Amino acid sequence: TWTMVNIVEEQIERIRDQIGDSGRAICGLSGGVDSAVAAALVQRAIGDRLTCVFVDHGLLRKGEAEQVERDFVAATGVDLHVVDAEKRFLDALAGVSDPEQKRKIIGREFIRVFEAAEAEVLEKSAAEGDKVAFLVQGTLYPDVVESGGGAGTSNIKSHHNVGGLPEDLEFELVEPLRTLFKDEVRLVGEQLGLPAEIVWRHPFPGPGLAIRIIGAVDRERLDLLREADAIAREELTRAGLDRDIWQFPVVLLADVRSVGVQGDGRTYGHPVVLRPVTSEDAMTADWARLPYDVLEKISTRITNEVREVNRVTVDITSKPPGTIEWE
Ligand code: XMP
Repeated sequence: TWTMVNIVEEQIERIRDQIGDSGRAICGLSGGVDSAVAAALVQRAIGDRLTCVFVDHGLLRKGEAEQVERDFVAATGVDLHVVDAEKRFLDALAGVSDPEQKRKIIGREFIRVFEAAEAEVLEKSAAEGDKVAFLVQGTLYPDVVESGGGAGTSNIKSHHNVGGLPEDLEFELVEPLRTLFKDEVRLVGEQLGLPAEIVWRHPFPGPGLAIRIIGAVDRERLDLLREADAIAREELTRAGLDRDIWQFPVVLLADVRSVGVQGDGRTYGHPVVLRPVTSEDAMTADWARLPYDVLEKISTRITNEVREVNRVTVDITSKPPGTIEWE
């Protein structure tokens, strides 16, 4: 892994060059490996001139906020500010079903929530005579390419961490992972000593569970999806298959109902879609052939434990033509 050592050293050097001896940086943590590795790199480069902010937008998976606060802080010792912005995001998303609208709203609110934290960083910078402040992002090479930042590609979906940034952003971006693929980011994370649970965590989209609810997003639907998602992840882990699977979205078809029967009663509940995929870099993907017994366990548990879900289906579409996420 001497090349990884080189990549890490080179990136740290570049970050120091960009930020300088007195600049201040702020980094939003999403809970995923990308922002964690980006933050850890910048932390190595500039130490306590980095402030990490974790915006809990209420669209996270079960237990995720706690994991960021506990595991990441323990591993890196960074100064972390947690912002509880659930109400703000859910209010802004109320009644919105269109996928690109959801992404735009989330991207916009996400940046706005940062304004308070940004102001602090700018104040500190000004107080110490610095001219510039920096915003760290865990943008990967595939994000750059899919958002049209690369050569000769079209905009497929507006990834909120690249295309959705408002025009009036006063911060200079620091994107230390911009040339890397996911597997390389994981190696960098290992090199930096981040815990395996963070390094090997499955990718999770910035807009979170909002783009895994087909239909409008509300607290009740989120809670429902969170339960189903937690069961699927738990059973995948129990089967020892975490590292064989690239990502395992669970999608709630919130506007669809179908008839079922449970106990001695008719049900009229929502379907969920299991979307386990294998992939190298998310540019292409194949549907994962999960063992039937694992699928059976997930199906039985979800329909038993999540009352409003009475049907579990599996998505057997590759990318292309399907994308990994349903929105
Ligand atoms: P798709 O659905 O386009 O997803 O096949 C490719 C990869 O990107 C993730 N994804 C996102 N990540 N902001 C993100 O940070 C987004 O808006 C977004 N949309 C999709 C997706 O989970 C998969 O890993």
